[in-house]
This record gives sequence, structure tokens and C-alpha cells, in this order.
Amino acid sequence: MTYQGVLSKYGHLLDIPPHTRPVTLLEGNTPLIQADNLSHHLGGEFELFIKYEGLNPTGSFKDRGMTAAVSEAFGRNATTVICASTGNTAASAAAYASRAGMKSIVLIPQGKVAAGKLAGAIAYGAQVIQIDGSFDDALTMVVEITNKHPICLVNSINPFRIEGQKTSAFEICDVLESAPDWLCLPVGNAGNITAYWAGFKQYNQLKSTGLPQVLGVQAAGAAPLVLGHAVENPETVATAIRIGKPARGEQALQAAEESKGRIIAASDSQILDMQKLLARLEGIWVEPASAAGLAGLAIEIASGKLNAKGKRVVAVCTGHGLKDPDIITKDMAKPRIVPPKLDALEEIILG
Ligand code: F0G
Repeated sequence: MTYQGVLSKYGHLLDIPPHTRPVTLLEGNTPLIQADNLSHHLGGEFELFIKYEGLNPTGSFKDRGMTAAVSEAFGRNATTVICASTGNTAASAAAYASRAGMKSIVLIPQGKVAAGKLAGAIAYGAQVIQIDGSFDDALTMVVEITNKHPICLVNSINPFRIEGQKTSAFEICDVLESAPDWLCLPVGNAGNITAYWAGFKQYNQLKSTGLPQVLGVQAAGAAPLVLGHAVENPETVATAIRIGKPARGEQALQAAEESKGRIIAASDSQILDMQKLLARLEGIWVEPASAAGLAGLAIEIASGKLNAKGKRVVAVCTGHGLKDPDIITKDMAKPRIVPPKLDALEEIILG
């Protein structure tokens, strides 16, 4: 049978109500790409795979949970969804809502959303509202408004988002025929790490696939789970994870502890260096936040805290590089201009 999206493939394993009516863009089924060049660069002698979630329909991992949340809302005839977002959730919510003929409202922190995400939300027809505040302020507001009005909240506080998101852990186990030894991923509002851990645990119970150790990585300027307290004014170039009060912070800490992993911080320059490295060594361009998991892995290997030798490591790359092109082009020297003449071209490329 042709592929019909994550609810069709794994719905029987997800805790979603019977009234759910599938709204899908055939999300999921993303490639697990072996990254030998990068593994070699990081010291080698281990298997590294990139779970390239930027290849989902709206360019980020959010589509897995969004198909579940919107399908549930659609099935009970909800008409409007709302979310707070650093950008990717907004684009995903807008796309799935439109496909269901529903309205979407997205609250974003003013001036801090990457161009490709804002453009997506607008293109898919969301009502986009900028909040003169942070993601955390916007999240508080959408919780308040959905307590008061019949609008469906599709942030990852919504349990169906977590259910749908678990499917990525299932896919990894299906492809590798077991869980990896380590799973590295960025952490912002902490829905994704919560979902992976739940997914791996569920699959292990069903199929004895084993459990990974989980390395969650926050940006150093937005690292409440590393610091042990909320961050009032989070700042990072990885705007997707510019979050100071993660809604599922407790569960993220629990996932790290139960899995014998940890949550660490990577600096903006470590994140951006890894973004470039991944693109140049493997041809995989991800948005800055998506490189955080790998940046954390590099930090842990370099400091000797993580011995990857002989291990299988999966790094989740959550969003496509095209989401945030400005981060690459803003400091870029303009490509040289030459006349349309062969000798001019030869001079440049042959020196
Ligand atoms: N990577 C990307 C590209 C993201 O967009 C996000 C979160 C994360 C990682 C972190 O995932 O929040 O589940 O811990 N983006 C949200 C948004 C906050 O609004 O798009 P998390």
C-alpha cells in the first residue's frame, strides 16, 4: 500500500480518540542518513545517523504531532486552532488547519522568527499575530485564551502532539531494528524529547528494541533545564529554541535521567559551527537549532564525557536550513560577478 502518513502507519500504537479524522500531508517516513564524514571528523569509530526531520511537508518535525492534534480537533468539528510559536509550529499548524478547512491563529515573538517560517505561516493562511514579548509570554496567552474560548490549542501541551511525535522514535527503531545507543536532539519547549522518550519506551515494551541514552541540548542563552531555573530573557541565534520556561521541562529532565543521559548547553558559535560542518561534510543543511543536538554530541565527545566508540548514535535534525536562509547569507560576501565570457570564467576557477 502507498504511504499514507504517520496516523495511518502507526495510529494503532497512539493514544488518540476514535473521533479522530485524519488530516495528513503524508508527513513522517523521513530518511535516516548515515553520516560517516561527520562521524570521522568527530573522532570516528562510531556509527552516526541523521534523522532528517526537516524533510517533513512543512520543513520541520512538527508535522508529525500536528497531524494528530489537527485530526483530533477536526474529528470533533473544531473550527479554529491556535498556537504560540518560534515559527515551525506556526507553519505546521497553519498548513494542517488549512487542509482541514479550519482557521489558524499563530502568536509569534516579535522580530524573532526566521523568514522561511513566517513566510510559511502567511502562505498557508494563518492569522499571524506578533507579541511584543517572548515565546513564553505568547504561550501563556494562548493557554489563557483557550481556557476561555472554544479554540483548540495545538502547542505540545496538547497530548495528541506528543502521540504523533512518538512516530519518529518508532521509525528509527524500525530502520535500525533496535534503538540507537544515543539519541541527540535540541530542546526548546521540550515536547520533542518527551515524545521520543515515550516512543522508545513504548516500542521497547512491545518489541524489545532497547532504549537509547538521551542527550538533550539547549542553547546556552536559553538553557533553563541546565541552569535549573527559568530564564527571563532567553537569547540565542537558534531562534527556534529561544525559550526560557519550557512547558514540558520536568518531563525532559525525567527523560534525561531515566535514560541515563543528560541535558547540556551549546553556545551559539558551537551551534553555528556545527550547522556549517554538517552542510559541508554531509550535504545536509539544517536550521541553527537543528544543529544543536550534534553540537552537544561534539562537546561531549571532545571533553571525554561521552565515549561513542563502537556505538550507534542518532542525531535528530529538526528543521530544514531553508527555514532560516538569512543566518547564512547575512555575513556572506556577494558571489563575484564576471562577464559571460569563457576566459573570464577560466581565470576565476583555474586561477
Ligand atoms: N528544533 C526546531 C527546528 C524547533 O522549531 C523546535 C521548537 C525545537 C527544535 C525544539 O523542540 O520545543 O519540542 O523542545 N520549536 C517550537 C515552535 C517551539 O514554536 O516551532 P521542542
